[in-house]
Amino acid sequence: MTARKLRQLYIDFFVNNYDHAEIKGSSLIPENDPTVLFSTAGMHPLVPFLMGEPHPSGKRLVDIQKCIRTDDIDEVGDSSHLTFFEMLGNWSLGDYFKEEAIKMSYDFLTRNRDNGGLGLSHDKLAISCFAGDSDAPKDTESAEVWKSLGINDERIVFLPKEENWWGPAGHTGPCGPDTEMFYWTGESDAPEKFDPDDERWVEIWNDVFMEYNKTEDGSYEPLEQRNVDTGMGFERVLAILNGVNSPFETELFKEVIEEIRLLGGYGEPEEKHIESERIIADHLRSATFILGDPYGVTPSNTDQGYVLRRLIRRAIRHGRKIGIETDFARKLAGIFVKDYGDFYTELYENQDRIFEEIVSEETKFLKTLGHGLSVLKKEMEKLEHMKNQGIYAFNEDFFFEMFATYGFPVEATIEELEASGWIQDKIKDKDFIMEKFCEYYGKHQELSRAGAEKKFAGGLADYSEETAKLHTATHLLHQALRKVLGDHVEQRGSNITCERLRFDFSHSEKLTDEQKKEVEKIVNEQISKNLPVKCEEMTVEEAKEKGAMGLFESKYGEKVKVYTIGDPEKGNIFSTEICGGPHVSDTSELGHFKILKEKSSSSGVRRIKAVLK
Ligand code: ALA
Repeated sequence: MTARKLRQLYIDFFVNNYDHAEIKGSSLIPENDPTVLFSTAGMHPLVPFLMGEPHPSGKRLVDIQKCIRTDDIDEVGDSSHLTFFEMLGNWSLGDYFKEEAIKMSYDFLTRNRDNGGLGLSHDKLAISCFAGDSDAPKDTESAEVWKSLGINDERIVFLPKEENWWGPAGHTGPCGPDTEMFYWTGESDAPEKFDPDDERWVEIWNDVFMEYNKTEDGSYEPLEQRNVDTGMGFERVLAILNGVNSPFETELFKEVIEEIRLLGGYGEPEEKHIESERIIADHLRSATFILGDPYGVTPSNTDQGYVLRRLIRRAIRHGRKIGIETDFARKLAGIFVKDYGDFYTELYENQDRIFEEIVSEETKFLKTLGHGLSVLKKEMEKLEHMKNQGIYAFNEDFFFEMFATYGFPVEATIEELEASGWIQDKIKDKDFIMEKFCEYYGKHQELSRAGAEKKFAGGLADYSEETAKLHTATHLLHQALRKVLGDHVEQRGSNITCERLRFDFSHSEKLTDEQKKEVEKIVNEQISKNLPVKCEEMTVEEAKEKGAMGLFESKYGEKVKVYTIGDPEKGNIFSTEICGGPHVSDTSELGHFKILKEKSSSSGVRRIKAVLK
């Protein structure tokens, strides 16, 4: 199955069999919608029609939408994550609803190829439906339709809002429950029972039933018309139809990845090459589409231009990382323009701009990198006699200065230090550099925010406020998880940037919606108690006696810092934990704690990303 055929198959199926009108997907930059930088789904331009305005092409539409989602940019490099993707969608604007929509989806998935369907196996399908909550009832209606099509009970699960609900484009607007289709991609036969946590079940399609309007006060009222919005992941389906494990192994990326390998000249790729190849290919494909969009975004330091700049620069850094010494972005963008230009004609139309901007950004960035690199090399030479101290030989503010003065990204500093043998403990040293980077980054920002008074625990008065808050929140989270899930929960990793915390911990099952809510509630309760945060130095043995949770203990020296959250005199100590800091001096400074994501990190380890607002 080729990309071109798959797009056509989808459109033809809905036009010929179910009387839909084909409409053109919209620009990647939603017009008149300040709530998002990029189109993340097909609904942005269709909101007025979902709210009841008649659409000039009718009530049944089919389209292919270009989307950019950058929330998971950190995860690109694995076999599935992409920042740009195409979404195949059919729409009912107050016309058909659940039963017909599900039957159409099933028909397209299972009808054989000669008759215009995908010819996928009924036996490898599984389904999720909305479990219901105080806003909307359990979606048994969808489940019944699936059962009438021969899907077994064991292959249907009910999941909470976080999984099976499509929210409005902004804070308010059309939304509703959805039913998602999964396909078994494992080597073995598909198991009888569907486990949505098993990654061999790949989500391929989502039918959203938009029957609610979320209002300003956060409540849900029935929409005047009931709509259907479906979204099929084009790249994923193409991979499945071609029997490969990842979109990166399909024709969409094949030539680009071959070219990257030639440029890198490393022969058979190792794991680190594969990760960088995917980052380069993904990011430059997104950059090509953003630059090719009629809207005319160019690299800059704000909004869409900033995302574009970050994508291009990250791709180039990864090029360097795998040994590409020449300019390469223009060449790879050229392959994307050639491969996609027939369907996305804007790429041909705007190819001059795409190439000019990409070359200019690459040139600027390579200059920056070159200059920064020579500064870094000089510093390494200067400190050579202290190399046994590793990265601790450098001035604390050095990692930020590389960025502030020379525009050299902190990730590049880390990579260079690692390649030159300065990093002795991968995890600890990298955390230290990121921490110091954030600290000085924060200070730098605070200079312009004059007058703000800050208090920190343990006299660490110069840490960036945001980082300190997130460190303290991590301790609260850790303890809250133990309360909700049990004492088997232990820290497996922690990574804090200036914006969010990420916490890995031992636990095998996915957290339920209730568990996550409970954890958030406990953390926020502790925050609102205005608990003091105290730091004491003691030996590891003393810390253990005190019952401190201690992680990576052996790596600490004789004396460790123990942070206590709570007041011993009031008997409300919530957490005692060994940690390097920094922390705030009082939990009242944290604001509101919110979990953004909870997912599997590796076998038996879960990962939470959370923020303070
Ligand atoms: N808008 C829905 C999605 O993106 C269909 O999954």
